[in-house]
Amino acid sequence: MSEVKGRILTGDRPTGPLHLGHYVGSLKNRVALQEDYECFFIIADLHTLTTRPDKNAILSIQDNVRSLVLDYLAVGIDPERSVIFLQSAVPETYELNLIFEMLVTVPRLERVPSLKDMARAANLETMPFGLLGYPVLQAADILLPRATLVPVGKDNEAHVEVTREIARRFNRMYDEVFPIPEALIGEVPTLVGIDGQAKMSKSLNNAIFLSDDAETVTRKVMRMYTDPKRVRADVPGRVEGNPVFIYHDAFNPDQEEVRELKDRYRKGKVGDVEVKKKLARALNAFLEPIRARRAEYEADPAMVDEVLIEGTRRMCREASETMALVREAMGMMRLEV
Ligand code: TRP
Repeated sequence: MSEVKGRILTGDRPTGPLHLGHYVGSLKNRVALQEDYECFFIIADLHTLTTRPDKNAILSIQDNVRSLVLDYLAVGIDPERSVIFLQSAVPETYELNLIFEMLVTVPRLERVPSLKDMARAANLETMPFGLLGYPVLQAADILLPRATLVPVGKDNEAHVEVTREIARRFNRMYDEVFPIPEALIGEVPTLVGIDGQAKMSKSLNNAIFLSDDAETVTRKVMRMYTDPKRVRADVPGRVEGNPVFIYHDAFNPDQEEVRELKDRYRKGKVGDVEVKKKLARALNAFLEPIRARRAEYEADPAMVDEVLIEGTRRMCREASETMALVREAMGMMRLEV
């Protein structure tokens, strides 16, 4: 079979360990699609500079990059098949970013809602030029390997929309170089936090990490927010919007157990403790193979570095091909020096 596969580009900023929200929002799709797509996974260290350009933050990136590679390998991204690379080590990223800056307007970027949220979260009073350009840099990431599909969480949907507009604009102004990529949002677009807040997030301190050990997971689950109106086990409870049941639906493969628990919960015939114990068990069963794979790779740190170096080399080859097409399409002057 030699049919041309579609391409995926997606990834994360190296700001800390990945959690269950990342898994259902995007990682699960990434792992599943490895067979059908040629996959490029970006560790977007340049994007972290948009809110944290200070030296301490930059120095902390190094450890975060390694732990992100480990998270990827642990969930089942196969380095034999897929490419994992470091954004800042691909010089064409900066080049294509500059070219794309000419193809989008400031008011368009000002309408991207996530940027204001990011500025606020980082305590920035006014918008840095680079942060406004966050989706433009992301467009460069996505279009450098000429990706067709972008599995991301809901919060990145608007960025992929900007990418599509830039790709269309480029193709119309110059030549058909880029596919128009689609976003693919996971089955749980935004997972609630263990505290019941709308979004699981490391900075909100309400996350269960893929790297948490069994004891930590159980402790976090036992503290989880449930139905606040349910003061005792014999009070009928609400299942809809209840984080404990949202997690059961997302991670417990025993649908019959979940159905039965919901039924008894609604009737006031089961305590929170039982529901939570069963959730902790399901989550730990889900995380166990991830932990086992992590342990294997952790025992071989040189291998982790090698995956990143090999992947970055591979991405650099793609990037230079794309940039040659870009310069040719634009009619840029070629100066041999
Ligand atoms: N914006 C993504 C995040 O929320 C990270 C990222 C950078 C990305 N470049 C990308 C995601 C390209 C998908 C495709 O952390």
